[in-house]
Amino acid sequence: MRYSPLPADQFIEARKRLTAQLKPRSLVIVHSNDIMPTNADGTMGFTQNSDVLYLSGVDQEESILVLFPDAADEKQREMLFVRETSEHIAVWEGEKLTKEQATNLSGIKHVHWLQEFETNFRQLMCHAGHVYLNSNEHQRAKIEVESRELRFARRCRHEYPLHSYERLAPLMHDLRAIKSEHELGALKEAIRITDLGFRRLLKFVKPGVHEFEIEAELIHEFVRHRASGFAYPPIIGTGANACVLHYVTNNTECKDGEMLLLDVAARYGNYNADLTRTIPVNGRFTDRQRAVYNAVLRVFRACCQMLRPGVIIHEYQKEVGKLMERELIGLGLLKRDEVEKQDPEKPLFKKYFPHGTSHHLGLDVHDVGDTWKPVQPGMVFTIEPGIYIREEKLGVRIENNILIGAEKNIDLMAGIPIEVKEIEEMMNSR
Ligand code: GLY
Ligand code: MN
Ligand code: MN
Repeated sequence: MRYSPLPADQFIEARKRLTAQLKPRSLVIVHSNDIMPTNADGTMGFTQNSDVLYLSGVDQEESILVLFPDAADEKQREMLFVRETSEHIAVWEGEKLTKEQATNLSGIKHVHWLQEFETNFRQLMCHAGHVYLNSNEHQRAKIEVESRELRFARRCRHEYPLHSYERLAPLMHDLRAIKSEHELGALKEAIRITDLGFRRLLKFVKPGVHEFEIEAELIHEFVRHRASGFAYPPIIGTGANACVLHYVTNNTECKDGEMLLLDVAARYGNYNADLTRTIPVNGRFTDRQRAVYNAVLRVFRACCQMLRPGVIIHEYQKEVGKLMERELIGLGLLKRDEVEKQDPEKPLFKKYFPHGTSHHLGLDVHDVGDTWKPVQPGMVFTIEPGIYIREEKLGVRIENNILIGAEKNIDLMAGIPIEVKEIEEMMNSR
């Protein structure tokens, strides 16, 4: 396999923690994602549903996980349904999970072919009181297509209107927000590979290279170290492009004197790193670039101290705004008297720092987790302040991934060059 799967214990424990929270006589059904069509007979690559991954490790389309801890028949308490392998599938699509492989991977003893789902579903529905179904409840998701899980929810409500339906998503969000040692292992590997990619770039970037050439260097480094690829579409923006927050066209030549923003990271074993560094194309910061860079770095370092157990992300964000205000005044971008008079609902710093500072990270890049609940040890967040000055064609963001600890936070990216001096030395020692 390209990546080492997490041990089955990880998934056994995750299911135990989930089922401990269910109401009596509850049935949980979790579906894989669809394979999305493109045009003609084309399809996008398969992206597994993160909750299926979290509860079973099964990275295969059309799989269904069924949990019914109170089932009278012990064999129906935990079941996995997967596509039946066949000669035809072997020839056209290659290897699919056998029942034995699915059991070894997930720790689920009772694995069935998909065609046995309907009979089991009918039987369990006749005994279930509550049915937990899944849906995407990420607060910033914009969804225009109906997912497999929503199609299934619609069907359930139509065929079994008298059951009590429950939302699985809030339970999954709480569980997934706290990372286990095994999960951290995969995340650290994604970060290690990301580090290798960034170091390769420090030796590669120079005036005249195009952003897409940098993208090509990275994907080579990531994939040869067993990453499945980029964790998200890479943002490689030189000069003014660095001020476009979701810039992904990566088609511009990097020019002497510009700063280059790199929001680029690897995905390994379904876990995502999320790194941003901003470097001078010619290997030397100007005084102004260094001043802006160090302002962002100071905010970054302060955030690493502020994001501690008990903090509410939305309140922390307001505090970060105040730090940013001071830095922007120091850089001559805001005036103190205007800041004092500003409408608190529309703080002036947002012109130069319009995005959030931290999000959960894990199986998804903007991972699930209730940001109105206090931060807890075991959570992993990004810290990613930035200053974007469009009129100067200069954008700087710095982003690391931080594990919240009971005693202190651990910067999982502490080894990746971040200081002006380190970056300059590495860029000039090629
Ligand atoms: N790369 C996406 C983000 O930083 O949130
Ligand atoms: Mn990022
Ligand atoms: Mn991020």
